[in-house]
Amino acid sequence: MTSTDHDPTRLAPHPAARTVRTFHPRRGRMTGRQTDALGRLFPTYGLEIPDGPGAPVDPAGLFGREAPVVLEIGSGMGETTAAMAGADPDRDYLAVEVHTPGIANLLDLVDRRNLRNVRVARGDALALVRRLPAGSLDAVHVFFPDPWPKARHHKRRLIQPAHVALLRGRLAPGGTLHCATDWAEYAEAMRDTLDADPELVNAYDGFAPRPAHRPVTKFERRALLAGRPVADLVYRRR
Ligand SMILES: C[S@@+](CC[C@H](N)C(=O)[O-])C[C@H]1O[C@@H](n2cnc3c(N)ncnc32)[C@H](O)[C@@H]1O
Repeated sequence: MTSTDHDPTRLAPHPAARTVRTFHPRRGRMTGRQTDALGRLFPTYGLEIPDGPGAPVDPAGLFGREAPVVLEIGSGMGETTAAMAGADPDRDYLAVEVHTPGIANLLDLVDRRNLRNVRVARGDALALVRRLPAGSLDAVHVFFPDPWPKARHHKRRLIQPAHVALLRGRLAPGGTLHCATDWAEYAEAMRDTLDADPELVNAYDGFAPRPAHRPVTKFERRALLAGRPVADLVYRRR
């Protein structure tokens, strides 16, 4: 036993040590269909990601096969995951989200479309990524991450140097990191951050053309109606 074992201040986390989250805790009501899908399908297709250190996640074990894996961070209501996974059966899609109604909605889509190549993790994407093996991902998708527009909230952004280094380490060589945002200033900050990562190469000259395989979601429709153009960024790991 050390003298610090009796130090009561050790029990209270230092304010600066508190986790900086990239998401807002949100409540949301679920439809009957979503409640049913969550109860019925989460045990088979879901994966709980508690905070803190935990057991490694083995993608091949999760999907029951060896196939390239796409990680979608912040899958929202799951429309993009379900559409892309349905059109791309040779790759496996691991979606991660904290918002339970969105997870339930994706499980419902998985069931209705009979998708076998989707799994849904509930929890903080950064905790999940830390548990994935290095080089295990073929692609990471980050579509319409919360923009955190105020300067004092920029530390909450998903795309920032330390997170990019973490994500890039989980990509296989040649794997892609694809981001999209409707927030012009965040798009430029993303480009600067991704350009500065020595292990990533821009697959295009600046922003990428909008890929037809990325479905238009509620966020994109709302942005376009409000006159905010959407920027895509596609980078490859060297
Ligand atoms: C603005 S929404 C976009 C949803 C979806 N990608 C789309 O295009 O419709 C951002 C989503 O990211 C989720 N999110 C943010 N940070 C996250 C994290 N660290 N782990 C898991 N989900 C996260 C939020 O809960 C939210 O649903």
